[in-house]
Amino acid sequence: MKVLLTGGKGQLGQSLNRVFPSDWVILSTDKVILDISIKRHVYEVICSFKPDIIINTAAFTSVDAAEKDIESSKLVNYFGVKYIACAAQKYGSKLIHISTDYVFDGKTKSAYKEIDKPQPLNIYGSTKLAGELFITENNVNSYIIRTSWIYSEYGKNFLKSIYNLLLKKKNIHIVGDQIGCPTYAPHIADLIIAIIKNNTISPGLYHFCGDKVISWYDFACEIAHLMGADKSLIMKIDSKDYKFSTIRPSFSALSCNKLERYGYKRSNFLYGITHSIDKLMNFK
Ligand SMILES: NC(=O)c1ccc[n+]([C@@H]2O[C@H](COP(=O)([O-])OP(=O)(O)OC[C@H]3O[C@@H](n4cnc5c(N)ncnc54)[C@H](OP(=O)(O)O)[C@@H]3O)[C@@H](O)[C@H]2O)c1
Repeated sequence: MKVLLTGGKGQLGQSLNRVFPSDWVILSTDKVILDISIKRHVYEVICSFKPDIIINTAAFTSVDAAEKDIESSKLVNYFGVKYIACAAQKYGSKLIHISTDYVFDGKTKSAYKEIDKPQPLNIYGSTKLAGELFITENNVNSYIIRTSWIYSEYGKNFLKSIYNLLLKKKNIHIVGDQIGCPTYAPHIADLIIAIIKNNTISPGLYHFCGDKVISWYDFACEIAHLMGADKSLIMKIDSKDYKFSTIRPSFSALSCNKLERYGYKRSNFLYGITHSIDKLMNFK
């Protein structure tokens, strides 16, 4: 099995690099080896490596930066995906692409299913949706996995930011009116490997997230609790009072029933958060 991984230094990329079976041939790329926003780069790498599978975890992931740099966000999240999808079709590779809960507007109170209509509120969500649509409208042989609120002991993420601020005993203001499902990056990596190995689910769109529906504020409190840190450092605020004004969905839990019918379980929140914090504490 030959696998091309993009975004190999991101948190999901790092998680995947740790669990690839040793008999697979892996080309793990970062932005220097393969900048997905450069068409020629994408075609050269895919043409010379000829992967069976391409896993695209590369993305412009900063929701706030995307509002200020719409062009870069579009270049990576739409054009990058388009180049990969076209090259995958040309060279006969199957594509596994990662997308986001932020394609939804959050104006519902029940977990979003794959058949629900996306209605992004911000640039990040719109550009990620444009990437998805290119894949589906062009019938690319692919799995699109929408996930949410990724955290882990790797890279940059909410859990690590809160952990570091609490260690420094800083006061933190966290929004309590945005609800979603934190997803442990290594669990997404395990799911991707299982999908490739088992080869039993049909190509298409799938939702995968954590098994806990929680606000950012309560997520931060859980982190403090597991670290044994002072929870009173964390103050609940409303999104309208948050220093970053980018609009985000107030509710973006994803229903994972479709994958669960194939026997794939949701990411276990308690395991993920405990494991991440243990790892971070042991790094010190
Ligand atoms: N993080 C979340 O909460 C979340 C939630 C839902 C869905 N997702 C999706 O899940 C996927 C993985 O997310 P993640 O948390 O692992 O993100 P991440 O840690 O930000 O990793 C993304 C990687 O993509 C790289 N990248 C950016 N532009 C690139 C380009 N032009 N060419 C090649 N690589 C490029 C980044 O490199 P630099 O750091 O050097 O720019 C980074 O290493 C993404 O598709 C994201 O949209 C993320």
